[in-house]
Amino acid sequence: MQQLTVKAPGRINLIGEHTDYNEGFVMPAAIQKAATVMIEQRIDRSIHLFAEDLQDTYTFNLDTVTKSSKDWANYIIGVVAQFQKVTQIPNGFTLRLKSDVPIGAGLSSSAAIECAVAFAINELFAFGFNRMQLTKMAQKAEHEYAGVLCGIMDQFASMYGKKDQVILLDCKTMEYQYYPLQLEHYNIVLIDTQIKHALANSEYNTRRQECEQGINFIQQQYPSINSLRDANMDMLNEMVDQKKYPKVYNRCKYVIEEIERTQAAALDLKEGRLEAFGQKMFATHEGLSNLFEVSCPELDFLVNEVKDNSNVIGARMMGGGFGGCTINLIKKEATASVVRKLVASYQDIFQKSLQHYIVAISDGAGLF
Ligand code: GLA
Repeated sequence: MQQLTVKAPGRINLIGEHTDYNEGFVMPAAIQKAATVMIEQRIDRSIHLFAEDLQDTYTFNLDTVTKSSKDWANYIIGVVAQFQKVTQIPNGFTLRLKSDVPIGAGLSSSAAIECAVAFAINELFAFGFNRMQLTKMAQKAEHEYAGVLCGIMDQFASMYGKKDQVILLDCKTMEYQYYPLQLEHYNIVLIDTQIKHALANSEYNTRRQECEQGINFIQQQYPSINSLRDANMDMLNEMVDQKKYPKVYNRCKYVIEEIERTQAAALDLKEGRLEAFGQKMFATHEGLSNLFEVSCPELDFLVNEVKDNSNVIGARMMGGGFGGCTINLIKKEATASVVRKLVASYQDIFQKSLQHYIVAISDGAGLF
């Protein structure tokens, strides 16, 4: 029987963090690290999964799609469940998975798996769902089977990525524009803390609730405002008592500012103002650390270390937070020395070795 191979990448995000589920803007791009899925049909109704990196297997039946105790399998089962809601998968399949997207590094290793699986099932059975439908199915799999109420950014970037282009996505209308990324003398370098604090997922869901709480306050006076995208600082100051609800106030303030900052940053990029763009990355980090409170000592340390280095024009934590990577724009010829210094000082303070990845911006999900 025909076997298909599909690849779906992880992602970076240049700016626009924790804005997707607030209907704001994000600026992600797909990267060269990807999940690969090999899939072929079976004549029975069972689904055989092989995780090649973990050397683990899991088998279930199309008629009993439920959560597994194996986390890795849930990303796949979650996608199967989405197909079963809107169509009927006619028979079982064998699926082999491998990935070189580092896990827990904030590069959306889970979205890469979900998108690869969604794309592969769609191709294998010629269902004809479009990329947007597959993106949303992949996101739902994350909500329902991984328990993270994520926005649309990661799955969107994995499906819609384009070589050498970043995407400016409006998460309210789902309109998007590609921007050629002309960094000339700069590399995009990810510095991986090698940690992911355990509270990352639960805190993510809490941030989402805090933003919704802010909207509820604002709606008492402005009933037509449905998201922080449509709110402004005047409304926030009027409707959210900063003394009584400091967390809600700070979360919303950060998001309102970040949505504006991302639009301004997109303009900087378009008009070649790289330094202004980099300054906004630093400002985003400040907000994520002090107002949104999703950073951690390791991430703050890495950003502070490069802040006054003229070879680094922008740096910030990236993704959900509480670990993972910082994203840095570093002069090409200085990249090796900047990284060497960071590795040494991080080892001194945290007794851990850093990893780093130089990003190549790549195409989104597709047959391989
Ligand atoms: C995670 C989520 C995304 C987004 C980012 C923060 O990666 O999956 O939807 O909210 O965090 O910007």
